[in-house]
Amino acid sequence: MPPEKTFHMTPDEFRRHGHAVVDWIADYYSRIESYPVLSRVEPGQIRASLPANPPVKGEPFDGILENIEKLILPGITHWQSPNFFAFFPANASGPAILGDLLSSGLGVQGMLWATSPACTELETHVLDWLVGMLGLPQRFLSTNSGGGVIQDTASSASLCALLAARERATNFASNRRGCDGRLVAYTSTQAHSSIEKDVQVAGLGLDQLRLIAVDENFAMRPATLAKQITDDRRAGLVPCFVCATIGTTSSNAIDPVPEISRTCRDNNVWLHVDAAMSGTAALCPEFRHIHAGVELADSYAFNPHKWMFTNFDCDCFWVADRAALIKTLSILPEYLKNKATESGAVFDYRDWQIPLGRRFRALKLWFVIRHYGMEGLQHHVRRHVELAQQFAGWIKEDERFELAAPVPLNLVCFRHKGGDEVNQGIMDRLNRSGDLYLTHTKLNDRFTLRLCVGQTNTEARHVERAWKRIQEEATQVS
Ligand SMILES: Cc1ncc(COP(=O)(O)O)c(C=O)c1O
Repeated sequence: MPPEKTFHMTPDEFRRHGHAVVDWIADYYSRIESYPVLSRVEPGQIRASLPANPPVKGEPFDGILENIEKLILPGITHWQSPNFFAFFPANASGPAILGDLLSSGLGVQGMLWATSPACTELETHVLDWLVGMLGLPQRFLSTNSGGGVIQDTASSASLCALLAARERATNFASNRRGCDGRLVAYTSTQAHSSIEKDVQVAGLGLDQLRLIAVDENFAMRPATLAKQITDDRRAGLVPCFVCATIGTTSSNAIDPVPEISRTCRDNNVWLHVDAAMSGTAALCPEFRHIHAGVELADSYAFNPHKWMFTNFDCDCFWVADRAALIKTLSILPEYLKNKATESGAVFDYRDWQIPLGRRFRALKLWFVIRHYGMEGLQHHVRRHVELAQQFAGWIKEDERFELAAPVPLNLVCFRHKGGDEVNQGIMDRLNRSGDLYLTHTKLNDRFTLRLCVGQTNTEARHVERAWKRIQEEATQVS
């Protein structure tokens, strides 16, 4: 009897096509600067170029790969271009991509320690490494009362922190009864919008989120926070959660965590620190001051998928008291019961996050840390900061422009003195040109350009060219 027809890719085909895909990625990186950084397609254009119906018969892989070039690349905004200066970066690197590929190859689902012990233990171990690498407090170590876990994003990390804060403040009653309208959360007016979403999702209600005013440097005013907490207590409310930011999205402002953490400690309020992009800077001893005060925080998160060369998604989240987090999120149905869980000797990371299932993300992070070493990571972070500071210097020297905020690290907020329309015009022309990609924010209600140096392969020549192009467009527009 002839063997039954299989539709699978054979191991030999997999090897051949796999090599072709890796070759394609390597080629893509070598020509990435030839593409317009911001995709130029119109809404609906990509879909219009795709077949209306799925194939009934399988297609040759070579043709599928060819279609990446023709059908997909036009709709790609090239986040990995060294001329990408928009938002905050989502940078990648060779070791991270290969680690992710291996993670896909192993195809592990690490919801429980028992479903792949290496998936859990490597993650715990690498997050303990990072405590030392970033100068984070010892109580975040898994060997102490805390521990770290990889979440998909900073938004999920802050949601988990908020849920644990909610339960701690209500002695775990709100998990059973829901929120009673008295719980209050606090963050600054400059915090990331994910905190607002978290407050909605966690059931506190947006009216229960206090957006604390900021100072002239866009950092939270700690005295205003302390007063608001006192006022809320007097009004019979229950302050439960503060989110401080190290490196706000708009302007990279650094909240005064030492003062904020003392207020939280004195009021028994959970302090979460969101260092989504800027936490990476603490790899370098000279920037580690950004972590002052974190020793009193209940939780902390930063995204290696922003600035630490680890491709999306990878957010590292630590808690000082893992018992509170686990008690908040753990539910044990019969079908997940197993001896290792019952022994109490293992972490089951499903209890540290919202979803049940989880990928083997630690692999790419481990590859990055081992490939670069502290030396390599520090080298690139330092270089990015240096380039951003240089760019800030050029802004100061050109009397048509001004800085719009302090530049503590690698984000420069600046504007042309000609007003909002001129700045919008400069940005639109630059982005349309495809030479680079910049985004904006509003600071003190004024349109502000942002240039963030954090893409893996950005070098001095890219920042120099960006400045030249900005000057050229400024001359055209004003
Ligand atoms: C300070 C800060 N927090 C949180 C986030 C949300 O990040 P994520 O996409 O990982 O949820 C961002 C995104 O830029 C951010 O800048």
